[in-house]
Order: sequence, then C-alpha cells, then structure tokens
Amino acid sequence: YNRPVIGGKSFTAVAINCASKAGEWIKTKIGNYTSLSLKYSPTDLVTEVDKGSEMMIRNLVLTHFPHHSFLGEEGVEPGPEASAKALNSFRDAEYLWVVDPIDGTTNFVHGFPFFSVSIALSYRGEVIVGVVYDPMRDELFVAEKGKGAYVHGKPMRTSTESTLSESLLATGFPADQKVALPLNMKGLQALAPQVRNIRSGGSAALHMAYVACGRLTGFWEIGLNSWDLAAGSLLVSESGGRVTDYKGDPYNLGVRNVIATNGAIHEQLVDELAKV
Ligand code: IPD
Ligand code: CA
Ligand code: CA
Ligand code: CA
Repeated sequence: YNRPVIGGKSFTAVAINCASKAGEWIKTKIGNYTSLSLKYSPTDLVTEVDKGSEMMIRNLVLTHFPHHSFLGEEGVEPGPEASAKALNSFRDAEYLWVVDPIDGTTNFVHGFPFFSVSIALSYRGEVIVGVVYDPMRDELFVAEKGKGAYVHGKPMRTSTESTLSESLLATGFPADQKVALPLNMKGLQALAPQVRNIRSGGSAALHMAYVACGRLTGFWEIGLNSWDLAAGSLLVSESGGRVTDYKGDPYNLGVRNVIATNGAIHEQLVDELAKV
C-alpha cells in the first residue's frame, strides 16, 4: 500500500500520515516510557507517550488545516461528564478531528502488543474519514465515507456468520468501574454461553477494525468515548457492517454504548443485550 507523503493535502492522506508517524514513534516507546499516572480510576492510565502522540497528531493536523477543530482524549478532563461536555462544545464545528492517540494504553504499558492510533474526521457531526493503525502488525485500516474501507489497500468486507452460535465476538472491560463495568459483565455472562467465543483484546478501535475486516463477527462495549469509536464506526459501516447504540439506533459521535457487527447478527445481539 502506497502511503501518501506529507504535502499531499487530502484529509485522508493527512490522517494516514498522522497515524503512521505516531504509531512508529509509539512502537519505539514500548517498555521505555518514563511517566505513568492515573486519571479517572485506578485502571485509567496515561503516559507521556499518550500525550506526545496526541501532540504530534494535533500539530500535524492543524499545520495542514488550521481552521479545523480538534478533539483528542488527552486534551479533555477525565471522566464521562467532561467527555460529553467536550464533544458538545464542538457541536457547531464544521470539520472536527476526533483522535485517540493510543487506544489500548494498558496494553502499551504492559507490553501486550495490541493497541492502535485512531483518527477520524467528521464534517458537521458525520464521520467522513476513519483511520486506525496497529503499529505492532503494521496494519493500516482506512475508510472514506461512500468510498469503502481498506486494509493496506485491500477492500474489507465484514464476515458472513448469521447466527450467534457461529459468532466470534469481542468486548472490553471499561475503565469506569462503578457503572459501565458491572453492566458490561452482565452482557458477557448472558452472551458467553450462546456464541462461539468472546475475546477482549483491549483496544476498542482495533476491535472495530477487526469487525470491519471480518476477523470478528461483532463487538459491543459500554461507556466508550467518541475518540474510541469514531474512526472504527466508519471502517465497519463502509465494510458492509452495522454500528448502533444499545437500542439499535444508528451510530453518532455521542454514542457511548456501542454494538458493531457484520449486520447479519445485529438484531440478535441488540435483542440479547436488551435483556440484561
Ligand atoms: C480503552 C480501550 C479499551 C476499552 C476502554 C477504553 P484507552 O481506551 O479502548 O479497549 O475497554 O474502555 O477506555 O484508554 O486505552 O484509550
Ligand atoms: Ca485512556
Ligand atoms: Ca481509547
Ligand atoms: Ca487513549
């Protein structure tokens, strides 16, 4: 796949450049970060590499597009209220970049090689570009609204399983241990006996990318933020899958409880999760 170089000014080219630059740098920092701190809860981690990656992406984006708005995880106060407020403050923005500088910080900290950089661009609230980059596998997932989704230049399609019993699903264990985590455990308990198996890799953005390319049948999680899901949502929908909230309503940037599937099992998953 021929990655455009900086100077190519298309939105997608810049998103790809940001993701690969940041990803390459993050990779050199595994086992090599110097400061680890806690944010909202004892499981909500941040390092100087998260902040550095965000700064790198932000600078690059704003150099190319100085009039665009930018929402990055590490620029927002921790916790769900502050996240919702930050997103809301951009409700009138035309072009808004929504960025998770490392999705899977816990994995990064432990050297578990499953994390990503997630970069989305929305236009008046609708995601038009989504890029998720996994630096450990050098896998680049790219989607453009109406133009399909690609992994390293190859078109992606979601998988074909049509029943829960054939499905490989993924979920996550949210950082919010008070509300989101216990609720997600109920879903896990209800679904585990009904499906082929369940994975929890620790990067929501990569889970979404894996639904898009058919490695997972579906993914659900409670209490996520716009930067976890924005890029992945376009990967899934442009690959023929479906992304909704828990009620089955279409994805928008404010969705925190997500269900993303190949489409064929979507209603079944929505129904099962509605019971818990
Ligand atoms: C986390 C990851 C994880 C999910 C958490 C997220 P972060 O993002 O996506 O998979 O379970 O809910 O907070 O903090 O590593 O960017
Ligand atoms: Ca985080
Ligand atoms: Ca994240
Ligand atoms: Ca993050």
